[in-house]
Amino acid sequence: MKHLLSTKDLDRDTAVGILDVAEDMADVATREMKKLPTLRGKTVINLFFEDSTRTRTSFEVAAKRLSADLINFTAKGSSVSKGEGLKDTAQTLAAMGADAVVVRHSASGAAQVLAESKWIDASILNAGDGTHEHPTQALLDAFTMRKRLHGEASRGRDLAGLRVTIVGDILHSRVARSNVWLLNTLGASVNLVAPATLLPSNTTGWPVTIGYDLDESIDADPDVVMMLRIQAERMHAAFFPNPREYSRQWGLDDERLSRLRPDTMVMHPGPMVRGLEISAGAADSSRSTVLEQVANGVSVRMAVLYLLLAGAAES
Ligand code: ASP
Ligand code: CP
Repeated sequence: MKHLLSTKDLDRDTAVGILDVAEDMADVATREMKKLPTLRGKTVINLFFEDSTRTRTSFEVAAKRLSADLINFTAKGSSVSKGEGLKDTAQTLAAMGADAVVVRHSASGAAQVLAESKWIDASILNAGDGTHEHPTQALLDAFTMRKRLHGEASRGRDLAGLRVTIVGDILHSRVARSNVWLLNTLGASVNLVAPATLLPSNTTGWPVTIGYDLDESIDADPDVVMMLRIQAERMHAAFFPNPREYSRQWGLDDERLSRLRPDTMVMHPGPMVRGLEISAGAADSSRSTVLEQVANGVSVRMAVLYLLLAGAAES
């Protein structure tokens, strides 16, 4: 595997294999000496044209734990403001010798364009492209679900039979898309719940069930409820009456939380807008996996960097 562009093209064994390597990487994080020499001499470039807290910093921690050199590029403060585009920016950074480029961009397909171009001969890792995909997010979500379900006995296992409800702005969410494909590949079933205006108009071929009533979905006793932020930065029209109304109908509030089983997982990729799609009580509850997701993100990104860069060196 040279690039990681989407979860749609990952088969079950590859996905489980990544999660298993992430388990090994998580073990490294518990050691006093958290660093491995594996990627010494390799250079990873974080190429972020959109804002990020978790993804950018966790790729940085992951690369450094594997002893790679890491260069952070963020569009703000760069020559993008002078009119430089993706091609010239990527080529400029590639000329400094990149082995891997972690790219986040507002255009769906940007990571694939880089991977297929002749501009750059590095492994491309998609860190979020428009509304298309965010594969490492789905992998860390699956890792978190597997860990809560199977604990120490997680290795080699998938998510067969798990019932996952994803709630909110599906239309603009790359997290939802990457999760739909990966969860299906791993044997879980996915229920999407949203106002009709925030669902894609065509979900033909999506392996999901669709609902419009969060209370019904909660009463169906899901194993996982994944809340999504409203992607206001991608909205150029009104998709719901107002935030209070959205929160009343599609927010995970304390009352809805209390109707979930004690072991139902409450997930959120972050950043959360407390009081809108999720209450503080839900975000901070023992059901919430939000901070586990962040910690697991480092292990999963170490695994992916290792498989793309060390794997390539060995073959
Ligand atoms: N951080 C995730 C993303 O970049 C989800 C979000 O921003 O709501 O897709
Ligand atoms: N979940 C996620 O991708 O967070 P950031 O946008 O902060 O990277």
